[in-house]
Amino acid sequence: MMLQENNPVFPKWWICLLGGTLLVSTFYLPYYLTLAVKPPSEKKNSVLVEKAGVPQTGESLYRAKCAVCHGQLGEGGIGPNLTDNYWLHGNRPEDLLKVIREGVPDQGMAGWANILTLQNIKNIRGFVLNLKSTNPPHAKAPQGKEYPAR
Ligand code: HEC
Repeated sequence: MMLQENNPVFPKWWICLLGGTLLVSTFYLPYYLTLAVKPPSEKKNSVLVEKAGVPQTGESLYRAKCAVCHGQLGEGGIGPNLTDNYWLHGNRPEDLLKVIREGVPDQGMAGWANILTLQNIKNIRGFVLNLKSTNPPHAKAPQGKEYPAR
């Protein structure tokens, strides 16, 4: 009776339960600390990262998203020349913002409003506005209406 009180015998099922719990926690704890507690935006997903709004320069965004159609220097290609004074959709800063956000889907340019943050779109617009009168080589012929230089 005395012996039993100092060295209590735990039932087998209790020991198994304890062992099982310890076993699970050895694997779960490191997992929880390293992977599970990160917010979703930190997981690798480029769309999520872009949506989360990591600000990028207009130049790097232009080269990555626009140069394929408008040329590395804005000289034009599939899309119009962005360095001259001729514009199809207007040359005011708000005209450019609208075209970049909404695109011209039936003419082959998709909108970027659902892909890039407003801030990043404004960064690109700033870069495009600075292309004005840079006279790149191989410039595409003017399209649209001529606007007085701003
Ligand atoms: C898949 C090709 C393509 C991509 C990519 C593209 N564009 Fe365009 N873009 C066009 C075409 C084609 C037009 C002319 C639409 C028309 O004829 O009305 C255009 C028109 C424009 C205009 C208006 C030009 C004018 O004369 O009024 C601007 C500004 C412009 N794009 C900026 C951008 C920017 C900034 C990006 C990158 C975020 C971009 N585009 C990406 C094809 C593209």
